[in-house]
Amino acid sequence: MAQEVRGVVAPGRNEPVRVETVVVPDPGPGEAVVQVQACGVCHTDLHYKQGGISDDYPFLLGHEAAGVVESVGEGVTDVAPGDFVILNWRAVCGRCRACLRGRPWYCFDTHNARQKMTLTDGTELSPALGIGAFAEKTLVAAGQCTKVDPAVAPEVAGLLGCGVMAGIGAALNTGAVGRGDSVAVIGCGGVGDAAIAGARLAGAARIIAVDINDAKLATARAMGATHTVNSTADDPVEAIRDLTGGHGADVVIEAVGRPETYRQAFYARDLAGTVVLVGVPTPEMKLELPLLDVFGRGGSLKSSWYGDCLPSRDFPMLIDLHLQGRLDLGAFVTETIALDQVEHAFDRMHTGDVLRSVVVL
Ligand SMILES: NC(=O)c1ccc[n+]([C@@H]2O[C@H](COP(=O)([O-])OP(=O)(O)OC[C@H]3O[C@@H](n4cnc5c(N)ncnc54)[C@H](O)[C@@H]3O)[C@@H](O)[C@H]2O)c1
Ligand SMILES: [Zn+2]
Ligand SMILES: [Zn+2]
Repeated sequence: MAQEVRGVVAPGRNEPVRVETVVVPDPGPGEAVVQVQACGVCHTDLHYKQGGISDDYPFLLGHEAAGVVESVGEGVTDVAPGDFVILNWRAVCGRCRACLRGRPWYCFDTHNARQKMTLTDGTELSPALGIGAFAEKTLVAAGQCTKVDPAVAPEVAGLLGCGVMAGIGAALNTGAVGRGDSVAVIGCGGVGDAAIAGARLAGAARIIAVDINDAKLATARAMGATHTVNSTADDPVEAIRDLTGGHGADVVIEAVGRPETYRQAFYARDLAGTVVLVGVPTPEMKLELPLLDVFGRGGSLKSSWYGDCLPSRDFPMLIDLHLQGRLDLGAFVTETIALDQVEHAFDRMHTGDVLRSVVVL
């Protein structure tokens, strides 16, 4: 029996989001229905609403979620009704060329539910990142459910489902930050702050936070930055070099997604250092760099997709570290809101005083 629940739908390009009745089918083979308990509001949800991702309206928004598995379809053995899970957008296939080479975090054929959720008139919904969790219940592929310790609060756990994992993973997985490294993070929103928290976890000796907003820099310090640079007042490349004995940082993480901040990252790293691009650029952006500098400075220039995370490996580990008091995931939750306040949360993103608004159901 399909169920009717409330969910937040983006009806068309730049139209305000609406709470609508969503029809959730029973789980088919390999699928699960999850009762959503909390779902963070991510920039990507706003990009969907604005048409920056695709034109497949209407979207069912929300993708940073935690909840309890309600029912599973045929053949599902990894999760069972009653399991507390974080939803992920990397249910790996196990058969693509990345998976077969033992690099499943790059999986090129990740799974989503096969059936569609719809509006009551039968209009098919496109769930954001194959999740759609600003809803009381959602239908996903069972592999999108990662079991974690239920002792963690859902509004905290859900954040690992996207932005916070992207940031922590940019430092730990992509940047491979190690004990004693110097790290600079450009852009200190939720993703950049998570990269700072990840660098601290990895034992970085020096963590330099760069932003254009002093309030963001104050939060970055609380997350573990040892030094801060306001790049509207000081040249960030020079400042980072000054703070690293004149050399530049071992790892520079770009968490804005713009050519000018990428260029800063490129020149603010030490010779043979690493640049990690976790910020997402838009299609019209171009980067120009002297090829001789690309060669002569050596090292590696990497992009970080979803923090190169493997949900089954990383989510339970990071939740355990949180529960042990070694990683303060709660610090990313600025406010909890109701389902009908998502539009308001989008407005608050521009004021710069929110790391994460989290819808609690
Ligand atoms: N790679 C991934 O898998 C992944 C996943 C989630 C989000 N993201 C991307 O990460 C980026 C950051 O996301 P967020 O949620 O932290 O966004 P956010 O808007 O909360 O944070 C961006 C921060 O950058 C700062 N900033 C803006 N312009 C700057 C500049 N010129 N120099 C220095 N700082 C500047 C802002 O003040 C803000 O603190 C976005 O591009 C987002 O799309 C990537
Ligand atoms: Zn695969
Ligand atoms: Zn997201």
